[in-house]
Amino acid sequence: MDIPANNPLTREGIALGRKLFYDPILSADSSQSCASCHRQNWAFVDSSLRFSIGITGELGVRNAMPLFNLGWQDNFFWDGGAADLESQVLGPITNPLEMNEELSNVLLKLNRHPEYPALFRVAFALPDTAKVTIPLMMRAVAQFERTIISGDSRYDRWRRGQEQLNEQELRGLALFENPQKGDCNHCHVTGSTFSDFAFRNNGLNGAGQGDQGRYRITLLDSDRGKFKTPSLRNIELTAPYMHDGRFQTLEEVLEFYNSGVQDSPTLDPNLKHAAAGRMSAQDKADIVAFLKTLTDPSLLSNPDFSPPQ
Ligand code: HEC
Ligand code: HEC
Repeated sequence: MDIPANNPLTREGIALGRKLFYDPILSADSSQSCASCHRQNWAFVDSSLRFSIGITGELGVRNAMPLFNLGWQDNFFWDGGAADLESQVLGPITNPLEMNEELSNVLLKLNRHPEYPALFRVAFALPDTAKVTIPLMMRAVAQFERTIISGDSRYDRWRRGQEQLNEQELRGLALFENPQKGDCNHCHVTGSTFSDFAFRNNGLNGAGQGDQGRYRITLLDSDRGKFKTPSLRNIELTAPYMHDGRFQTLEEVLEFYNSGVQDSPTLDPNLKHAAAGRMSAQDKADIVAFLKTLTDPSLLSNPDFSPPQ
């Protein structure tokens, strides 16, 4: 994991970040914390909601993303609008559809809080008179997020020789990697993180339709309709699927890749050349069975990731 030189993980910094992550103090009316939309028992997505509800009751426009193995990624949000984990933290706090708070108020609240000023001074080895700052708040939350690691699924245990996968699951893995069949591995790279996190258009919409994704950040036509390729770890737990949560089940996702991919100038070349109908009903069921081996129950129960006492 690449950890920024100015934000090494410390026990005190992680504990502070965890407290902030679970504290509604970061929202304008103290009703919503990060964990309101990123729930541990849902692999840190927002339950089964398609779009999250912000403090004003308004709906967001994209499906909440799961939070784990973030320390191995570079760009955050579906469109990569935040270049690092530290700067990502400001997005939800100031977003009117989410926590809807001003950073100046966050500073006031943290600095007059009975515990936070001392916790910040200890976590960042500051002198007694030092105040809480926004960059330090961002660093603490990012430290906690980097500790949320998921790597103990049945698939991982099988790779470590601790468990067997059944025949159907192994067939599913082979189909996942087979360029004539799933070819999923091409983007959701088999192994550690199950993605290379590159921005791609996987054909959800035709040219110019829908959310333009990465284009909104770069304004390059070549980025239209591209989104961060998500990890498929814990995918069984994080329905609905895609940036707009349009699919309810993994079966629907498989049918989409089999027959629903929409052509456009930025469609990924691998999907452009994939033959429609290449996966049989059995193939699709086998791939879904394989995907379910990527569920890591320890992520949901690890006490280090749950609300602090
Ligand atoms: C109202 C619901 C809501 C709240 C509150 C919220 N998030 Fe999110 N989070 C989302 C949604 C929705 C996305 C995807 C947004 C997008 O891509 O445009 C997201 C994306 C993220 C991502 C990007 C993950 C990735 O793989 O790129 C991170 C990290 C994250 N949130 C952390 C946080 C933190 C830290 C807080 C608290 C400071 C927080 N979120 C508060 C809904 C929420
Ligand atoms: C060309 C690259 C590419 C290939 C090949 C590909 N995917 Fe994807 N996949 C993506 C991208 C990009 C997204 C995010 C799209 C979006 O939301 O706009 C995605 C999203 C998903 C999601 C939703 C994840 C979530 O968190 O909502 C699932 C599930 C998925 N893919 C499974 C598969 C399976 C199974 C295969 C093989 C049959 C496959 N993908 C092949 C690039 C690819």
